[in-house]
Amino acid sequence: MDQKKTKKIFIETYGCQMNFSDSEIVASVLSGHGYTTTEDIFLADIILVNTCSIRDNAEQRVKKRLQHFRSMKKKNPGLIIGLLGCMADRLKTLFLEEEQLLDIIAGPDAYRDLPRLLEQVESGQRGVNTLLSMEETYADITPVRLAGNGVSAFISIMRGCENFCSYCVVPSTRGKERSREADTIVQETKMLFEQGYREVTLLGQNVNSYKWDEGDQTISFASLLGRIAEVNPLLRIRFATSHPKDISDDLLKTIAAHPNICKAIHLPVQSGSSRVLNLMNRKYTREEYMERVESIRRIIPGCAISTDIITGFCGETEEDHKETISLMKWARFDYAFMFKYSERPMTLAAKSLKDDIPDAVKERRLTEVIDLQQTLSFKSNQQDLNRVFEVLIEGDSKRSGEHFMGRNSQNKVAVFPKTNAKPGEYLKVKINSFTSATLLGAVI
Ligand code: 5AD
Ligand code: SF4
Repeated sequence: MDQKKTKKIFIETYGCQMNFSDSEIVASVLSGHGYTTTEDIFLADIILVNTCSIRDNAEQRVKKRLQHFRSMKKKNPGLIIGLLGCMADRLKTLFLEEEQLLDIIAGPDAYRDLPRLLEQVESGQRGVNTLLSMEETYADITPVRLAGNGVSAFISIMRGCENFCSYCVVPSTRGKERSREADTIVQETKMLFEQGYREVTLLGQNVNSYKWDEGDQTISFASLLGRIAEVNPLLRIRFATSHPKDISDDLLKTIAAHPNICKAIHLPVQSGSSRVLNLMNRKYTREEYMERVESIRRIIPGCAISTDIITGFCGETEEDHKETISLMKWARFDYAFMFKYSERPMTLAAKSLKDDIPDAVKERRLTEVIDLQQTLSFKSNQQDLNRVFEVLIEGDSKRSGEHFMGRNSQNKVAVFPKTNAKPGEYLKVKINSFTSATLLGAVI
């Protein structure tokens, strides 16, 4: 029997949803070549670490983890270790030469090449491919769904990014922006629905600039979203991430027109100061961002808005920071991901701006932003008290086997006592209590 056929792969993923989606593509590429995935690292013949470079601490976590794999490899010299994703190109020299640990290094556009790279390893060489591509979208690859709940799945609709926000490593790790053929996205959605999935999240670094030429017609993100929404009314659609500079009213109207397109928009603001936004190369001002939020509230009443915020970017003054605080209060964000600025190599900021805010100041500003968001999330949940939401059941609540957890259209987690219903079904839940992170309720 072919030895290769019995090899088991464990994939460990760091970073964004896009990376989780990529790991599912990796699993698919390799399963087509006779490998299988395992969820038990101790059964693995091959460990693949899908990495993230977005902030320095993400890279540090991966480096620590690789030290652990080094000790596993000492005990089991046949173990193959591969590094995939955003750290691959940046750190290939370090890992191959200094660390002497890795057998495979593959960048985000090189996953089709993994079977060949694995063959190289089997013949005693190392397998390295970190080339970025202008075209690769993995459009024809049906992802193997890894460790999911069988209810919600990610669909990658575009790759790369060309916005060049000055703090961001993504344009250098993931290359040029390219959209995936619309029909393949619709097909993948239909297949997921038939398999019992009830929620898909369309993924891209900047989904609003999705564009696919079909004959003499150009399919925009709004028209793609409309097509996906029509696959089945019982299928919920989410998407991430939107760039404030190009989230159009046309898109907002499409969201409003389809009950199954979720009423939740993730709209990263990054800073509330126009001066800092300019340094960040975000291509919108504070006022333009506010105008977009007003449009969302006008066109999609009840829509949740979440955001990303960076504290302590190059040159950020106390005044700039206060503008971020005041914008957060004005926008009443329902949820936020908040970070302190971490300089990344090869970015515009690393090349031309000074990382001049002391760490303690970045940290203090971050704490202020987090504390404020906690209050805003609490208030947002307070407003939901006694409201009734349609909740898609995802599975058991983490804390109790007697409760289900699911989400409402606004992407808020709701926990409530179980009924006879099953994951994947919708229930009407009345909210009777809450924390800043969770709504608690009962089925009506
Ligand atoms: N430092 C801190 N946060 C960053 N992000 C991206 N790059 C950096 C960086 N260099 C944050 C942004 C982005 C989110 C995915 O990560 O807020 O929206
Ligand atoms: Fe995702 Fe960016 Fe991290 Fe790459 S660097 S995994 S694109 S968040």
